[in-house]
Amino acid sequence: MASEQTAYFAALKPIAVITGASEGIGRALAAEFALGGHDLLLVARCANGLANAAAELAATGVDIRTLTADLATAAGCASVETELAASGCTCDVLVNSAGIGLGGPFAKQDANDLNRLVDLNMRAVTDLTRRFLPGMLARGAGGVLNVASLGGLAPGPQQAAYYASKAYVISLTEALDSETAGQGVRISALLPGAVATKFHARMGAEHSYYLQMLGVMSAEQVARAGYRGFRRGQTLIYPGLFHHFNALALHYVPHWVMIPVIGWLLRSRQAG
Ligand SMILES: NC(=O)c1ccc[n+]([C@@H]2O[C@H](COP(=O)([O-])OP(=O)(O)OC[C@H]3O[C@@H](n4cnc5c(N)ncnc54)[C@H](OP(=O)(O)O)[C@@H]3O)[C@@H](O)[C@H]2O)c1
Repeated sequence: MASEQTAYFAALKPIAVITGASEGIGRALAAEFALGGHDLLLVARCANGLANAAAELAATGVDIRTLTADLATAAGCASVETELAASGCTCDVLVNSAGIGLGGPFAKQDANDLNRLVDLNMRAVTDLTRRFLPGMLARGAGGVLNVASLGGLAPGPQQAAYYASKAYVISLTEALDSETAGQGVRISALLPGAVATKFHARMGAEHSYYLQMLGVMSAEQVARAGYRGFRRGQTLIYPGLFHHFNALALHYVPHWVMIPVIGWLLRSRQAG
């Protein structure tokens, strides 16, 4: 039975599935994986953004497919598996980068927006990982790279659900890494600090103190560190030396000290 399963997956073409690849960190990660020789399936909602990303990477010579899907829906996640099956491919590496944030006091946030955040940042990561991890284990190869956040290491007042969603991603990653140890797959989480993408403006946090007071990295720098860390089999990948210190502080400074500081950093300067 196990050897039948191995033979089934061995007959399929291995491909890296990158969600949120139409822009930002996902797009930069797609470039890293393409340069590393991985064939790609790029997934996001915006067909134009995906087409531009694919065109930009054409010179790398790898096979690049695109799929428009809303991963905040169960049907969107299922369509990734359907697309792979229809094209005779298997997910070798799953990069979960699609994600959204939501700024401001929790009680004032729109309930639908909150549900959408939970669906995309947690449910889709869980759904896609459950779909593709068994094939990776059967082949004894590949892995999952989840784009989490330094924010997942502590509670974040003013971005409460977002920080909590990234804590879930980190916890899931570390647990799956332990469960699958020694079976040939890599399970990693990338924990960037602030990155220069449209992400902050989209969640209404572009005037927050953290963007002014903490360093902002480029999506390319973060993706380079993420790809390198994933190749090395690191479980938690902190891009940049500064964030290794931030991570230590987030681990060891007591929450009663840290949470008010984070809450202040996440406040909008326009809130006074
Ligand atoms: N930027 C930061 O400072 C920062 C820091 C730490 C962690 N992160 C994490 O890094 C990841 C990427 O963030 P980013 O800065 O690259 O954000 P971004 O520039 O806003 O890009 C988000 C990507 O996700 C896709 N996406 C959004 N909603 C989707 C949906 N429902 N279904 C499918 N795809 C969807 C977007 O494409 P479409 O709009 O075309 O769907 C886009 O490709 C996120 O998980 C975020 O939490 C970001």
